Amino acid sequence: MALIQFKNVTKRFDRKVIFNQLSFDINAGDFVLFQGPSGMGKTTLFQLILGFEAVDAGEIHFEGQLLHPKLLPGLRKKIAYVPQIIDWGQGKVIDIIEEFMSFQANIHLTHWRKLLAELMTRFELEAGLLEKDFSMLSGGEKQRMAIIQALLLERKIFLLDEPTAALDTPMKQKVIQYFSERTDATLLVISHDPDWQQIPNIKINLLNQ
Ligand SMILES: Nc1ncnc2c1ncn2[C@@H]1O[C@H](COP(=O)(O)OP(=O)(O)OP(=O)(O)O)[C@@H](O)[C@H]1O
Ligand SMILES: [Mg+2]
Repeated sequence: MALIQFKNVTKRFDRKVIFNQLSFDINAGDFVLFQGPSGMGKTTLFQLILGFEAVDAGEIHFEGQLLHPKLLPGLRKKIAYVPQIIDWGQGKVIDIIEEFMSFQANIHLTHWRKLLAELMTRFELEAGLLEKDFSMLSGGEKQRMAIIQALLLERKIFLLDEPTAALDTPMKQKVIQYFSERTDATLLVISHDPDWQQIPNIKINLLNQ
């Protein structure tokens, strides 16, 4: 059984057709890289999977079940999503993370502080950054914090939308290396960066019909 299945999905915004009868399967454990020109619908594809957008025709199945509004809370608890635009607003980084980890869906995660410290070391962020206002962070720092926040959730399905766009080459390599070792997970990554193709067994989906 496929983990995520698109069956003849059509999506329009006003009269613009974004996807016309798009079909593909993603199995548990797959690593998939979505590529395609700007504005062709990559972010929209993630919004459809997460149920933030609805299909105009066709079906999306998750774990063999037709995606229905009733399924969305359960589906979203299984997915760690790093959006393309990271907007945590204002406030101290640690306060924002603490609030996020206190949400009902995350409250069972009791070891996140240790994991946070480990991941910040791994992605070369100083602990003092937690005391800064999020709006003061650099683009690359924000991007790494968003990846770390997603990892704190200890979920097994990752949707990463341009997760390395603001990172320099060595840091980008660290992030790619990290995910390439996550063979316990299913990875859907949108990136225009060909370095993601280095991951062994990654499947490239050009989203062409
Ligand atoms: N909520 C919306 N309402 C109307 N049009 C939208 C909406 N969301 C996206 N679009 C349009 O749909 C198209 C696809 O947008 P999308 O953000 O999915 O592209 P993308 O492939 O992620 O682009 P990029 O590589 O620049 O991030 C664009 O033309 C965009 O303007
Ligand atoms: Mg996009």
